Amino acid sequence: MAEPSDAALKRTHNCGELRSADVGKHVRLCGWVRSYRDHGGVVFVDLRDREGITQIVFDPSGDAETHALARALRNEWVISTAGVVRPRGTDRVNPKLPTGEIEVLADDLVVLNRSDPVPIDPEGNDAVAEETRLRFRYIDLRRPEMARNIRMRHAICRAMRSVLDEMGFIEVETPFLTKSTPEGARDFLVPSRLQPGEFYALPQSPQLFKQILMVSGLERYYQIVRCFRDEDLRADRQPEFTQLDLEMSFATEADVMEVTNAVFRRVCEAAGRSFPDDVPVLSYSQAMERYGTDRPDMRFELQLRDVSEIVRGTDFNVFAGVLAGAGVVKGLCVPGGAKFTRKEIDQYGEFAAAHGAKGLAWCKVQAEGFAGGVAKFLDAAMQARLREAFGAADGDLLMFIADAEEAANKALAALRNKLGADLKLYDPEAFAWCWVTGFPLVEWNEQEGRWDSLHHPFTSPALEDLDILETDPAHVSSRAYDIVLNGVELGGGSVRIHDMETQRRVFRLLGIAEEEAELRFGFFLQALRYGAPPHGGIALGIDRIVMMMVGASSLREVIAFPKTQRGVCPLTGAPAPADARQLRELGIRLAPGRKGPEGSGGQGQEA
Ligand code: AMO
Ligand code: AMP
Repeated sequence: MAEPSDAALKRTHNCGELRSADVGKHVRLCGWVRSYRDHGGVVFVDLRDREGITQIVFDPSGDAETHALARALRNEWVISTAGVVRPRGTDRVNPKLPTGEIEVLADDLVVLNRSDPVPIDPEGNDAVAEETRLRFRYIDLRRPEMARNIRMRHAICRAMRSVLDEMGFIEVETPFLTKSTPEGARDFLVPSRLQPGEFYALPQSPQLFKQILMVSGLERYYQIVRCFRDEDLRADRQPEFTQLDLEMSFATEADVMEVTNAVFRRVCEAAGRSFPDDVPVLSYSQAMERYGTDRPDMRFELQLRDVSEIVRGTDFNVFAGVLAGAGVVKGLCVPGGAKFTRKEIDQYGEFAAAHGAKGLAWCKVQAEGFAGGVAKFLDAAMQARLREAFGAADGDLLMFIADAEEAANKALAALRNKLGADLKLYDPEAFAWCWVTGFPLVEWNEQEGRWDSLHHPFTSPALEDLDILETDPAHVSSRAYDIVLNGVELGGGSVRIHDMETQRRVFRLLGIAEEEAELRFGFFLQALRYGAPPHGGIALGIDRIVMMMVGASSLREVIAFPKTQRGVCPLTGAPAPADARQLRELGIRLAPGRKGPEGSGGQGQEA
């Protein structure tokens, strides 16, 4: 195809722009042929660019060569065309298109490029396998909703940058080829050629660098940054994802939360949403008590109640047995749930079981006393107190789970979310935000027999709990906070430890020996000795934020080139075997049975 003249590339307008007021103008448009119709010699083409669609008409009474060329056009060819804007006949006005009142009567056509028949119809609504969408992502991204998502992502990042700039934050890039940062996932390792046998780790977050920037006196740092975590993937997790990461000196929890609220207020503005003046703040224990989770969906009530004290003394063996141990009986009250059929109740039981419950006890609330399920084990006094505890009304259904508190919470939290959705207890368009604060500092890792950080090892313990750090770690609160939207954790952070002594005590508590701490974080501990100011920060998951703002159900809908559930990129085919020479240069030989190229020391190549 001959190179087009410069003039062919000089658009006067985009394809979403022309209106009745432009009638009579001679214009030039460029774009993709979206649909092509030949009506007895008059050729209609919908021309699409990223801003919209304009109808182009090629009339047989015009230039014969142009008309012949127009008849050869096919979908997704790239063209430049010029002509005069004219009104469409009243019967042909398309009220669904912003440009629907006009069309362009073409007098010139340049084919800039042809296209093979496309494997995905960019305009169609046909369900296409996700694998195919990802393999042909360039075409998938032409689809209006994908283009909209990508542009929304841009608008959100721009809003973040501008509000943080206004608040005095400075964007600094930090290394990708670095040492491990513990955020609780596996590292991606990169072998070093220059230091044979040694590896960089891709950062799980810039956590240590941003703290070091506080020691540097930067005071307010931010970065829109990729993080890498080798963990099991789900709809809301990608192996590489993007954070808005920030850190500030001389700051308390309240300061970081205020900055974060300001960021979200601006992001919501960019996304055409409102953000509340006051975001409710729940303590971790309130969240667990009422919702059974540290990321409660606040769009609806349906709170959990611990009724252990009310049902203590019941003859129901399951409750009695669990209460005699260290367990609890917790439950919720389903408004109007007495109308559920037995089959429906059993299905909720199966759902609870799938989330670890050993069973689901229930009873119906009625004027003449509770009925069905475990009603017969609940005496009149218990029934009266249960009614009060749940604020239950006739026609409601009570559901209970008896178990260790953690297990009961886990199953009830899932059940609560399911009931909220099934019973349409909220407007699916609504946004409900909350902060959760006062997390425990550590949790017991049963398998490994040691304490793990709930957040990461650099989170400060609550100052009032410092003297029980060694004696009663389970009851030490941290200065961490999370921000949650509709039950999705969008961000988390903390006020940090800024003195080396406390940092050493926390490492000791976590079973990180002095030498190990030195080996892994020596550079960081060193920095804490040279005037580290008090500081704190947060990281917000940008992929998740965009997903929520556009109402998508997967992060893959808001990332240009995402990975599948199996960590694969169908577009490029990554990951892929390395060639033998690369491996040799790195001094790497694959273990037998691992896929590898010929001669790499892979399959059957053990030297
Ligand atoms: P955290 O590990 O809580 O904190 O991560 C912050 C936010 O990042 C998002 N996120 C993810 N998004 C997509 N895919 C993933 N695999 C994934 N993992 C996390 C979530 C989460 O809330 N350094 C600390 C922050 C700090 O203390 O300042 C950190 O990374 O939205
Ligand atoms: P069972 O005596 O095991 O047949 O259980 C009687 C009822 O109690 C059934 O509806 C079970 O689903 C329910 N149930 C069993 N275990 C539990 C539990 N741990 N918590 C709540 N209900 C339970």
